[in-house]
Amino acid sequence: MTTEQDRVLIFDTTLRDGEQSPGATMSHEEKLEIAQLLDEMGVDIIEAGFPIASEGDFEAVRAIAEQAKNAVICGLARASTTDIDRCWEAVKHARRPRIHTFIGTSPLHRDITALDQAGMIERIQATVAHARNLCDNVQWSPMDATRTEHDYLCRVVETAIKAGATTINIPDTVGYTAPRESAELIAMLRERVPGADTITFATHCHNDLGMATANSLAAVEAGARQIECTINGLGERAGNTALEEVVMALKVRNDIMPWRTGIDTTKIMQISRLVAAVSGFPVQYNKAVVGKNAFAHESGIHQDGMLKNAQTFEIMRPEDVGLASTSLVMGKHSGRAALRAKLSELGYELGDNQLKDVFVRFKALADRKKEVYDEDLIALMQESVAGGEDDHLQLKRLRVVCGTDGPQEAELTLAVGGEEKSIDATGDGPVDATFNAIMMLYPHDALLELYQVHAVTEGTDAQATVSVRLARDGRVYTGQSSDTDTVVASAKAYLNALNKLHLFAGRADNAALMQSAG
Ligand code: KIV
Ligand code: ZN
Repeated sequence: MTTEQDRVLIFDTTLRDGEQSPGATMSHEEKLEIAQLLDEMGVDIIEAGFPIASEGDFEAVRAIAEQAKNAVICGLARASTTDIDRCWEAVKHARRPRIHTFIGTSPLHRDITALDQAGMIERIQATVAHARNLCDNVQWSPMDATRTEHDYLCRVVETAIKAGATTINIPDTVGYTAPRESAELIAMLRERVPGADTITFATHCHNDLGMATANSLAAVEAGARQIECTINGLGERAGNTALEEVVMALKVRNDIMPWRTGIDTTKIMQISRLVAAVSGFPVQYNKAVVGKNAFAHESGIHQDGMLKNAQTFEIMRPEDVGLASTSLVMGKHSGRAALRAKLSELGYELGDNQLKDVFVRFKALADRKKEVYDEDLIALMQESVAGGEDDHLQLKRLRVVCGTDGPQEAELTLAVGGEEKSIDATGDGPVDATFNAIMMLYPHDALLELYQVHAVTEGTDAQATVSVRLARDGRVYTGQSSDTDTVVASAKAYLNALNKLHLFAGRADNAALMQSAG
């Protein structure tokens, strides 16, 4: 029999702490798509962004708040009334809004804010009370809690509770703590702080020493009932606690950790792939739960054991995290109904129009590739998220000439804002020649920060997935695309990133126009 004490809330901060990691910037539409899936899979609280950070952040939090069906939608705010008011403006549209306000409480942070202990207590009292006047669901965090003096930590937590905080989050901001210490800190606060039994304690760990998952679970053992985490462990530096790890650990080892979450674990692979695609941060092959090799058994002894009894080497079933058990799926004779059924098995429910479009792409792929695997279909779906008919830049034709006695040449035709333009360019290799041609047709000053190629499956006819990251004016734009031709995938990934840059530049111009008009 489960009681509320058995329930651990899952607070996902992929769109705030995750997006803060250098290079992981996501577009407005991508954020909405991720938030929708997080909501569908049963995430209790979605931290949708930092509304004061930019107009884009504000709009994304507001749109996510409007779209959310079940999840609490939370925005982050520093300890200032301006930040908190802005946050409230964005989250108030949610059915269940939350304001999350924080201040760094360790000696290092007190130095930076130039507040002494008493001054900081006053600030906490005033800002938490202000937030609580706006919203009855208020979370407060003492940033760098694990390096804050215990006596002082007790005083600030008590102040926040008295001022109206309903959740107290204890961040290990720099990934410094270890499991036993993480548990002892929560136990100490629960024991010493008056009013501790009236609020929910949360744990927020970073993974600098690879202990984020262990530290989060240890905090739960000690009484924390909210885990803050991100998909694929995305986040600043070495990242945050990975949602898929804590959720599956609680499910698989429920015998020794008897707490449950509300997560539909069969959606884990789908959200993991989506976040990897839009952030441009691929999942490492041997990553726990969602890595490509997490369920692969290659050594002879393992394969033999698996064939006799899957439990020999498998502590969770691939289906539990949404991995289809068979990998070889379709070919060029497969029909539309079969494609719809297969995609639904992979977690993609398509409307008729979307299916029509994906079916055309599937046929084109099946013509070039004898066997179409699950991974190919997933890449195809990500492709349809990445590029659309309304894109400013569209690839029309590409031909490259390669040889041992370079330079290589690219003949390229693009539609630029609907108008077809062609050019020839040379370069140091076919990809360089193609990128030079793109640059000539669409001149820009963004810096190419990353270019990465992955094979989707094995074999010389395998599709390649290419990720491109561009940076301009402190913002980052990622693009991704897949194709059996690596150069075509590279061109499309580059165009995908440039389309995002173009969209953002358009939005910024609009905002400037609105301001000058207002
Ligand atoms: O790591 C951290 O301290 C944070 C806070 C803003 C909660 O992300
Ligand atoms: Zn953090």
